[in-house]
Amino acid sequence: ETLNHSQQSAPGLKVFDRGFTNTACVESAITFIDGEEGKIKFRGYDIEYLYDNHDYEEVIHLLIWGHLPSNEEKQSLRERLLAELKTPQSVVDAIRAFPPQSSTGSMILAGLAAFAALDEGTKKLHSQAEPYYIGNMKNTDAAIIRTLAAIATTIALVYCHKRGKTFTEPSLEGSFISNVLKMMGREDKGIEKCLERLWILYADHEMTNSTAAFLHASSTLTDPLSSSISAIVSAYGPLHGGAIDLAYQEFKAIASVKHVPYLIKEVKAKRQRLFGFGHRIYKTVDPRTKFIREMIDEQVRNPLRSRVPLLEIALEIERIASTDDYFISRRLAANADLYGALLYTALGFESDIIVAMASLSRVPGPMAHWRESMQQKPMLWRPQQLYREGSKIGFPRG
Ligand code: ACO
Repeated sequence: ETLNHSQQSAPGLKVFDRGFTNTACVESAITFIDGEEGKIKFRGYDIEYLYDNHDYEEVIHLLIWGHLPSNEEKQSLRERLLAELKTPQSVVDAIRAFPPQSSTGSMILAGLAAFAALDEGTKKLHSQAEPYYIGNMKNTDAAIIRTLAAIATTIALVYCHKRGKTFTEPSLEGSFISNVLKMMGREDKGIEKCLERLWILYADHEMTNSTAAFLHASSTLTDPLSSSISAIVSAYGPLHGGAIDLAYQEFKAIASVKHVPYLIKEVKAKRQRLFGFGHRIYKTVDPRTKFIREMIDEQVRNPLRSRVPLLEIALEIERIASTDDYFISRRLAANADLYGALLYTALGFESDIIVAMASLSRVPGPMAHWRESMQQKPMLWRPQQLYREGSKIGFPRG
């Protein structure tokens, strides 16, 4: 709907676009998604190519700094990241102040807030008129590294606290992922190899709700560590990253393949939502799903791993939904979250940490978009509303 001139505060065409279904708010050279064909490219490289030929650190470099790294660049990135994996006592105390059974998300937010209180960039932000990273890519890059490291450390600390496990200090050797696993007390070459590929798939997904939440906050020129708190909050929502866990809970609740037709009936009657299905951008199967399925199959064949008892339920949901007119007519297909939790549980991660792990794997995305925004003239994000005087919008609900 086009707004008339009296409803505009600046010249130009304004449209009413509830939920931003058709509105682009950035120009970006980072990630391309073709929702009709089910394709993803990072900086022009097909995700299949990156998945087959590169590791997570290389993809972090590609997304954030625009090219695949040389050996020296990769080594330098690794050294800088590992050097920032610090565990300040106030962060440890903030997390340990929670009873271990508290929600994972709340603990992560507290840990990040404690990190932000110490961060040199965040402190400078409150003492200078112009944030220290504006026009200074060296400071921008240092803030990116600190943010990635702080989120990784926080999630590892939360994981340990929830389980009463001893936190293991990271080392200055090995990959970023091997150190995340080490801090969690989950060092395992097989898990590391799997996450090196899985996290490539999750590393960015252009203007997702959480990346947009990050950029919305950072458009006020607040620092990236604080802006990450907005992104983490958004990522926990059931319609977004939280769906990875809710899909898993849905499989557990129906417990048996024979109950899948009942679940589908409930979904079609709109009494229930099918988590792991549907996507704002994809009108076909999410291209990441195929790789996640492949990795689950590898785990199923691995005698060292736990079984994947709920896999049959997920497969049956996808089989029935893909031939049912409700889903076909609405172009609803499996998204990456349908199988994602099954892979994490096959690797031995409990469901209370899966959303956090998926959020950690996504951090390079907002960091790349933030760096891109820092190379442009700052622009405050501020959507508009369509004011309807006296109308009863939203009442009654439904
Ligand atoms: N289950 C049942 N019906 C659905 C689903 C679903 N998962 N998704 C969409 N629909 C229906 C809607 O009810 C609507 O039906 P209607 O035309 O009869 O009213 C139609 O399909 C269109 O749906 P919208 O809500 O308009 O689609 P939108 O693009 O806004 O929603 C979303 C996308 C939020 C992801 C939705 O598909 C959904 O809720 N999926 C389940 C949650 C989920 O898996 N989220 C993860 C997404 S991937 C990610 O963020 C990592």
